[in-house]
Amino acid sequence: TVPDLESHFEHTISKDQRIEPRDWVPEGYRKTMVRQIAQHAHSEIIGMQPEGNWITRAPSLRRKAILLAKVQDEAGHGLYLYSAAETLGTSRQELTERLVSGRQKYSSIFNYPTLTFADVGAIGWLVDGAAICNQVPLCRSSYGPYARAMVRICKEESFHQRQGFELLMTMMKGTEAQREMVQDAVNRWWWPSLMMFGPPDADSPNTAQSMAWKIKRHTNDELRQRFVDMSVPQAEILGVTLPDPELRWNDERQHYDFGEIDWAEFKQVVSGNGPCNEQRVAHRRKAHEDGAWVREAAAAHARKTSEVAA
Ligand code: 3HC
Repeated sequence: TVPDLESHFEHTISKDQRIEPRDWVPEGYRKTMVRQIAQHAHSEIIGMQPEGNWITRAPSLRRKAILLAKVQDEAGHGLYLYSAAETLGTSRQELTERLVSGRQKYSSIFNYPTLTFADVGAIGWLVDGAAICNQVPLCRSSYGPYARAMVRICKEESFHQRQGFELLMTMMKGTEAQREMVQDAVNRWWWPSLMMFGPPDADSPNTAQSMAWKIKRHTNDELRQRFVDMSVPQAEILGVTLPDPELRWNDERQHYDFGEIDWAEFKQVVSGNGPCNEQRVAHRRKAHEDGAWVREAAAAHARKTSEVAA
């Protein structure tokens, strides 16, 4: 009976055990899992665009090879996550349709332009650094396929973050112009990176339920604070100034205090009015349409081989 299924589900969650695709789940759990995994997958795929913009213009073969590897990793992360969403009964095709028709979102961070090569370093250091803060706890998310995807993704994210930091460190040891490029990139990427963690807990409609179902293991503000505490010492080593005059260590809290985030900007970007929203979705839609013939050919070939086999 449903009550038995419900109590088994609650028992599994309370024991910190994994929910697997064959398990019964409440409709709300399925819905919020598809929502979060799909948006995470979309973020990985859209995130290929800002960095991909610099592959043909990387300053050396080494930087080009690293950047190629990173962008390919993001594609793999996206496919991994779409496969996790498929175990909940929603196909990659359906999710891609929702993305290109604007019915599903992706992370706000990828709606900002990459103006110089230092942005590639700032994305690695800050955006992938924020992703690590957010994704390590997700390795313990209650939904098995999602948590297991995170384990693999987190290993690659740490390479992404380290290569970004090393790229910036190299530029900081370069000319004055290169140091200015790094500082300019940090100025533009710092606050949007803090927004990646989502609205303040008080304005987060999903956090309470996601914490109860152990989908999330920490709240948006807790992870944001963790990211700030991790990044300030790194910025000091790098020799850059984070663009927040209110940033200072609070001995009582044992955390860094930081300034107010511009939530109006966040709302603007999330609702589609960021600097690059239109271009990112249009690019993804065009890639999907340009790839239609490949999908049709593969399907025709599969039909033919299955007819021959039958
Ligand atoms: N960008 C876009 N939308 C955002 C957002 C952001 N930065 N932060 C929150 N939102 C949306 C939420 O999706 C939700 O809208 P919805 O109900 O229509 O989905 C609404 O704002 C309210 O936010 P909540 O805090 O209530 O929503 P969540 O509980 O889902 O928390 C989240 C938001 C923390 C992003 C959570 O979904 C999450 O942890 N997702 C998985 C991680 C992820 O998606 N990271 C994105 C970056 S991927 C990446 O970094 C790749 C790396 O290679 C760079």
